[in-house]
Amino acid sequence: MSASPNNPFDSSAKNWDTRRMSVQLAEVANLLLPQLVLNDRQHWLDFGSGTGLLSVPLAARVEQVTALDTSEKMLEVLVEKGIKNIQTLNQNVFSGLPCDYDGVVSCMALHHVASTEALLKQFYQHLKQDGQLALVDLYAEDGSFHGDNEAKGVKHLGFDIEALRATAEALGFVEVSFAEIMQVEHRNGCGYPLFVMLARRS
Ligand SMILES: C[S@@+](CC[C@H](N)C(=O)[O-])C[C@H]1O[C@@H](n2cnc3c(N)ncnc32)[C@H](O)[C@@H]1O
Repeated sequence: MSASPNNPFDSSAKNWDTRRMSVQLAEVANLLLPQLVLNDRQHWLDFGSGTGLLSVPLAARVEQVTALDTSEKMLEVLVEKGIKNIQTLNQNVFSGLPCDYDGVVSCMALHHVASTEALLKQFYQHLKQDGQLALVDLYAEDGSFHGDNEAKGVKHLGFDIEALRATAEALGFVEVSFAEIMQVEHRNGCGYPLFVMLARRS
């Protein structure tokens, strides 16, 4: 997926924050931030930030947040929120990152990237020593979460967390842990559990 006008998220951007699912996902920040070591000298990267459901509360706790997203429209909604210490970066995560970060967070973006190994490697290479990684995404599901997976740019039907752990550890991440962070209720009537993966760059 590149930073192009055809990004599938562009058309959802204006209404993103009021979607039933987004209202539930906004709760991730309240559950996740207490699990991180945060201070007002840190610079964090929010990968696939969208409209900033995670970036905005994170920015209140650190010096700077870079909100990275291929969707120009999602980032426009975030910019309209006027948070001074959030800097947006409208590009693909694989196009090269401008600096190293104290931490990387992400919510529901991992399943949109074909090579999880390449993505985790990119994070590893752009985390400072002892930098924190915190990723929230779906446990393995049957494809019903998005329904039209191809049109929505879905590359993984959730994740087998033991495979994810093995990939992260092989790259050098330490203190890799998983826990269920919340369950979201879909309009299809099903509940889908989300995991949080925490790890640290050695
Ligand atoms: C499901 S949305 C989640 C947005 C936000 N984190 C939230 O929880 O509301 C996934 C986001 O990841 C972005 N994305 C997907 N692949 C990307 C990539 N390779 N580089 C940067 N952003 C990407 C999409 O444009 C989209 O805004």
